[in-house]
Amino acid sequence: MSKKPGASPHTFSAAIVTGGGSGIGKAFCERLAGDGVKVAVVDLDERRAAEVADELGGLALACDVGDEAGMVEAIDRAEAELGPVDLFVANAGILSGDGPDGAADAKGLWSAVDDRWQLGWQVNVMAHVYAARRLVPGMIERGGGTFISVASAAGLLAQVGDAMYSVTKHAAVGFAESLAITHGDDGIRVTLVCPQAVDTEMVAVAAEHREASGNAIGGAAVDGVIAPRTVADMAVDAAREGRFLVLPHPGVSGYMQAKAADYDRWIAGMRQFRRKLREGIEAD
Ligand SMILES: NC(=O)c1ccc[n+]([C@@H]2O[C@H](COP(=O)([O-])OP(=O)(O)OC[C@H]3O[C@@H](n4cnc5c(N)ncnc54)[C@H](O)[C@@H]3O)[C@@H](O)[C@H]2O)c1
Repeated sequence: MSKKPGASPHTFSAAIVTGGGSGIGKAFCERLAGDGVKVAVVDLDERRAAEVADELGGLALACDVGDEAGMVEAIDRAEAELGPVDLFVANAGILSGDGPDGAADAKGLWSAVDDRWQLGWQVNVMAHVYAARRLVPGMIERGGGTFISVASAAGLLAQVGDAMYSVTKHAAVGFAESLAITHGDDGIRVTLVCPQAVDTEMVAVAAEHREASGNAIGGAAVDGVIAPRTVADMAVDAAREGRFLVLPHPGVSGYMQAKAADYDRWIAGMRQFRRKLREGIEAD
């Protein structure tokens, strides 16, 4: 539930940020540490997690968030070192790219594994479920807690050239909504963050593979690339005020309304947008 105007904003004592070793996750760690919050930096990449944690005086935890045992162990360790976690930022996420045969292709472009669908499901969706399963009961006992879910505009609209990303980000949006609806009355607050392009390695990798798939940086072509810290600041401010939806690119709200108003027209518009992206790639 959003805070009443004039009410003092929520504060946080101990936070976990997944994918905290780079990009948007790192920006979350910096913002939260700057606010005096104790931060656990969780990342698959141990070295990067340690670098960020050392710089900020946080706790580095290496784990694969798509593995439930690993996720639970990381949360246990964070709570043992930092005290009860009252903010969880579910930020780690992966793209894969459709591959040359499009949305029904068996392999992604740059995923090392064939089963990129399962990997995306684990990292982009189940990690959020595992964290909520472990944290929600304790948060309710203590009177409340906050989840920030970093999904994507692709979870509300679509990601041209990456069916796995579109599907799993829609699922992440659905899970954030469910958590907010089911546990709002228990004091669980959820903030859902849905940016288009943000200036991180993820976008750089997608750009590298753009020629083959026509993928991924469609939003950047239209609405620009914003800084990771802008996303983190908007999200933490919204979480402090108890607001649900954060759209760092303001145009996304209009696209959502256009999609809801006339779905067929929206699909036709997205096809046209895809053709334009492909023409741009072929002309380069
Ligand atoms: N960059 C964008 O344009 C953009 C736009 C919308 C949404 N997002 C979302 O924002 C989030 C952060 O993206 P980013 O752009 O900062 O990406 P990034 O690739 O720069 O950083 C992602 C971090 O997550 C870590 N990670 C990946 N898989 C992991 C796993 N299984 N377990 C633990 N850590 C893992 C990586 O090591 C990396 O440090 C993602 O969920 C992404 O989908 C990004």
